[in-house]
Amino acid sequence: MKDYHEFLDEILISSDVLEKRIIELATEISRDYKDKNLHAICILRGGVLFLADLMRHITVPHTIDFMAVSSYGVGARRTTGQVRIALDLKEDISDRDVLLVEDIVDSGYTIASVLEILATRHPKSLKVCTLLDKVERREVDVPIHYRGFVIPDQFVFGYGLDIDEYYRNLPFIGTVDSNRYKPQD
Ligand code: IMP
Ligand code: MG
Repeated sequence: MKDYHEFLDEILISSDVLEKRIIELATEISRDYKDKNLHAICILRGGVLFLADLMRHITVPHTIDFMAVSSYGVGARRTTGQVRIALDLKEDISDRDVLLVEDIVDSGYTIASVLEILATRHPKSLKVCTLLDKVERREVDVPIHYRGFVIPDQFVFGYGLDIDEYYRNLPFIGTVDSNRYKPQD
């Protein structure tokens, strides 16, 4: 795999800026979920770093769980509307105040589909927290209750987000110089 310096266009969101915003979100969530039964569900794998940092700053008692979904589309970045559960939750969610934690909402199909699946399991409440929102790309309307950053329609990587499964470890969100890297799609 290439060193990311070879195709990084620019650092869109630095780790300092990420941290500050995540603290703000965690503060808001802690206030809203006081006396509730907060259960954060992280969608693997992109949401892992975000959840880990977010929960460090959430001050109300809470539990976590994980799920993984894959789209029926061709290629990792194409979504056709429906998702399949690749890894299901460990715990029952009825009577829990579920907060879905996602790395990015793009077309919106993934979140819309996950929300539909989770709603059938009757959580007490169901909300969405996404670190990034590519608003311009939205194809299906989805409710977003907590949003870290609105970003332009550019492919980004780092801080959980991958290019062909690599570079999730980087502490910042960077944009790809498409002349120098073509993600396999
Ligand atoms: P949606 O179903 O179109 O909203 O797609 C959401 C999923 O696409 C995210 O969970 C990411 O895995 C992936 N994705 C969308 N945009 C990007 C990006 O810029 N970089 C990396 N992954 C992305
Ligand atoms: Mg992905």
